[in-house]
Amino acid sequence: MIDLNGKKVVVTGGTRGIGRAIVLSLAGAGADVITCARGDGEAAQSLARELKELGGDHHVLKADVGEPEDIRRLAEEARTRFGRVDVVVHNAGVISHIPFEELPLEEWNRVLGTNLTSAYTLLQSMLPLLPEGASVINIGSRVATIGIPMRAHYTASKAGLIGFTRSAAKEFGSRRLRINVVAPGPIETEADVPAAVRERYERMIPLGRLGRSEEIAGAVLFLASDLSSFVNGETIHVDGGI
Ligand SMILES: NC(=O)c1ccc[n+]([C@@H]2O[C@H](COP(=O)([O-])OP(=O)(O)OC[C@H]3O[C@@H](n4cnc5c(N)ncnc54)[C@H](OP(=O)(O)O)[C@@H]3O)[C@@H](O)[C@H]2O)c1
Repeated sequence: MIDLNGKKVVVTGGTRGIGRAIVLSLAGAGADVITCARGDGEAAQSLARELKELGGDHHVLKADVGEPEDIRRLAEEARTRFGRVDVVVHNAGVISHIPFEELPLEEWNRVLGTNLTSAYTLLQSMLPLLPEGASVINIGSRVATIGIPMRAHYTASKAGLIGFTRSAAKEFGSRRLRINVVAPGPIETEADVPAAVRERYERMIPLGRLGRSEEIAGAVLFLASDLSSFVNGETIHVDGGI
């Protein structure tokens, strides 16, 4: 059982899907968590209720990681509420399926901005709050280094996260910060998976099924804890062996 009691954590995009499982796993292991999403509707409210039941010092905020001003506000909330941040999980991400010839610049910029540029604004804003031993975890994607039609913008953003992570790992190792990527394969979330797509994935994945959000959270828990104290600049694929 991983014990994160006393750890202060920030997770982006924590109200739904993989991010929600990450938030609940970290809080369940004893960490205090600040998370954010663009929306403050039912998903955010039900997460806040679940976190309250778990106990601990948790906060669900409204912030868009694509907006540098929102990231600065998130860091300021972390500073005033926690004073430091031991673990940062950059999970917020968006995807769309668009043939490359029709891909508008606005969509390219939206996806790169949300998935990749936000990793830069987030790390720069959080750096003053990160003590020695802090762990930064970027959620990438298995497909980043494989490629897939109609997702050039998405895979570019997620592949960019790997280079970003490796360089940051080298630059900040002397400050005893670790930064890694967790790269999920196809994961079951609230989003509908068409039957044909599901069957194709089940054939492609040696374990014969899609992954669960909690299985991504498991890798995040490992990287958040001292069990991974010598893991740095790495990409951990959690994909059933696809
Ligand atoms: N699901 C998969 O199979 C899979 C596979 C590989 C990688 N991934 C990666 O895993 C991460 C989570 O994916 P998911 O499938 O769980 O996504 P999801 O179900 O769409 O949930 C995304 C979460 O991020 C929030 N979010 C989205 N854009 C945001 C923004 N600009 N600022 C702040 N919060 C934002 C969403 O809330 P709001 O909409 O309210 O903002 C939501 O809480 C993503 O980085 C994704 O690329 C997923």
